[in-house]
Amino acid sequence: MARLAFILFVVGSLGSQISGQSTGLDTCGLTQPDGINTFTLRTASPLGNIPLIHIQYDVNRKLPITSTVMYDNLNLVQNVERVDNFRNVECGQLTNKQQNCANTMRLSLPQKSKVNSEYNSWDRGHLTPVNPMRFSAEAVNATYYCPNIAPQEPWTNRCPWYAVEERTLSRTKSFPSYVMTGTCASDNVVDGNTYYNLTVPDCFWKMACYLDPTTKETNVVAFISENHLIQSTGKAASRVERTASTTTPRAQLDVLNLMGARSSYVETAWLEAERILTEGRGTTGLPSAATCVSTKDISVATVTDWTAFMKLHRPPFDC
Ligand SMILES: *[C@@H]1O[C@H](CO)[C@@H](O)[C@H](O)[C@H]1NC(C)=O
Ligand SMILES: *[C@@H]1O[C@H](CO)[C@@H](O)[C@H](O)[C@H]1NC(C)=O
Repeated sequence: MARLAFILFVVGSLGSQISGQSTGLDTCGLTQPDGINTFTLRTASPLGNIPLIHIQYDVNRKLPITSTVMYDNLNLVQNVERVDNFRNVECGQLTNKQQNCANTMRLSLPQKSKVNSEYNSWDRGHLTPVNPMRFSAEAVNATYYCPNIAPQEPWTNRCPWYAVEERTLSRTKSFPSYVMTGTCASDNVVDGNTYYNLTVPDCFWKMACYLDPTTKETNVVAFISENHLIQSTGKAASRVERTASTTTPRAQLDVLNLMGARSSYVETAWLEAERILTEGRGTTGLPSAATCVSTKDISVATVTDWTAFMKLHRPPFDC
């Protein structure tokens, strides 16, 4: 009896030590032969220490492939302000394998002339955004690790992409969801790399998987955002076109087609989201990850619903 009690005591205190760890890496495992390092960022929160962001990171391209989170009522709490803290993840496997996002991502000289010097830098675009994490300062902090950041077209990031982020979070008032954000598999060869030779992804995408409140079936909605610079020549028309394409609801299949040989990482991320990101949240009403994987098409009703919902977004004054 005494021995059993001792063992239970040891196991119990080990458990609380693990769940008591603060913001940082859950695990920083080995980089796999395909060049992908997978890890989960944890955070302190009003619910205790929780897993926050699941990331699949490409060490060769120095870009995230996917950044996945789960949105529920916790993500609607806005107690703290945004505080910039762009920095590398401290992990031996990722030393010298990260874009240095502490510095601004300067435009190359040809890029600068394309935008007529309206911008000096690509935005350091968050995959998983800051706003849904304003329930704790530590959670906000966790979004600023470089493996959650990629060079992004500035106006697109601040206007139509912001609309996609804002609307996706806003839907949480009606239902919880898994939300996955990724960079497209191809590089932006139209504009080329940044001044300091960082790779720029050709596009960004975001998907939300949730149970339809009416039909109780799993829906997956996707958004795809081209990441080419909007040139000063013909700027107004390009912005209209960029807004229309970025805010159009699409099918998961459209994202899988863009990912090509890398589409299996999307499937992995849905399954890992269910396995890892639900811990400590007590969320009800989530779809099963298996149905997120299998729902590759989007119904006409879901497109109609999201098209109307996107129109309710109020853009910042300078969009
Ligand atoms: C944010 O991260 C930095 C490390 O980069 C740490 O020093 C700081 O305490 C963190 N802030 C919060 C509120 O967690
Ligand atoms: C720029 O980066 C690419 C990979 O994106 C690499 O192949 C090339 O050698 C780099 N060029 C310079 C000048 O560092």
